[in-house]
Amino acid sequence: MKKIFPSYVRVPLIFALVFIAMEYFVDSGDKPAFVKYPMLALFLGVFLFLLIAIEIVVSAVDKVTYHLLTDEQKKQLEEAQSVSFADSKFAKGIMQKLTRSKSVEQESDVMLDHDYDGIKELDNVLPPWWVNLFYATIIFAAVYLLRFHVFGGYTQDEEFKTEVELAEADMLKNKANSPQEEITFDKVTLLTDAADLAQGKEIYTNSCAACHKVDGGGVVGPNLTDEYWINGGGIKNVFKLIAEGSKNNPTMVGWAKTLGTKQVQKVASYVLSLQGTKPAGGKPAEGEKWVEEAAPKAEAADVATVTDSTKTEVKK
Ligand code: HEC
Repeated sequence: MKKIFPSYVRVPLIFALVFIAMEYFVDSGDKPAFVKYPMLALFLGVFLFLLIAIEIVVSAVDKVTYHLLTDEQKKQLEEAQSVSFADSKFAKGIMQKLTRSKSVEQESDVMLDHDYDGIKELDNVLPPWWVNLFYATIIFAAVYLLRFHVFGGYTQDEEFKTEVELAEADMLKNKANSPQEEITFDKVTLLTDAADLAQGKEIYTNSCAACHKVDGGGVVGPNLTDEYWINGGGIKNVFKLIAEGSKNNPTMVGWAKTLGTKQVQKVASYVLSLQGTKPAGGKPAEGEKWVEEAAPKAEAADVATVTDSTKTEVKK
């Protein structure tokens, strides 16, 4: 019998199956498992290596043993290999079990003795695959009848209600421990993780670059790369402004609704990562110089007051 899959199909296929199984069974949140757990990436690498190694060894062993065969055995092997899967004994045996079909030579055994102008009829048995399926439906119907109509199982209406309840409980649970939790002014922190900043950058390029320029130098909106801020600097003020929009200038709308606060945190962190990049052709500084030690207050971010002689601005 021929091998069903050649090795260049077999190796990727087995690898893909293992990969899919791993992603399915390993709970890794919103990231692929092999990204979240580098050990798994290592495992996959080693696994692929072994898979290829085994293929190479097996084919080498096959070649060597082939050379050791006598001519007679080689002939037998080639004959056996030239038979396709459908013609193999194994496949034929299964087909016979499922259909109990008679070959043309055996037709005379099941031939009925009437003859309509030369048209004859065979009395074949019903194929077992069909008969057994039929019995299975009868057993299923009996069990179903007893379960739901005699011993009082749940109705479809009740089933629907339980499923909705389960889904709601699931939703609450997901909300409680998902990373998509709401970020607020008090909770917001500067993200420094490269993945978060990369996402922030993507949002920025799609939604903000039109007014602030890709490099943050500013067009309609102000320059975001200097340390001067109209509405206060630091992650809290910048987050609040992007989330709620500017009170001074409605052109800068609030983005919390469109993006979600988690994404606003990312884009705010990305904006702050542009600090000091001094892009060519950037707009001149607007607003007040922001000094980080000046802890921002939750109330508002629009009135600046000078609190001491060192001219540290605090947004109140
Ligand atoms: C339609 C144009 C426009 C778009 C789009 C826009 N902005 Fe703005 N942005 C402005 C304007 C105008 C201001 C100035 C607001 C003010 O004077 O208070 C501003 C101000 C800001 C500020 C405060 C700057 C400061 O000095 O206080 C930040 C931070 C900011 N934008 C970030 C973003 C981010 C992030 C996005 C994308 C999610 C975005 N902007 C999209 C026009 C825009």
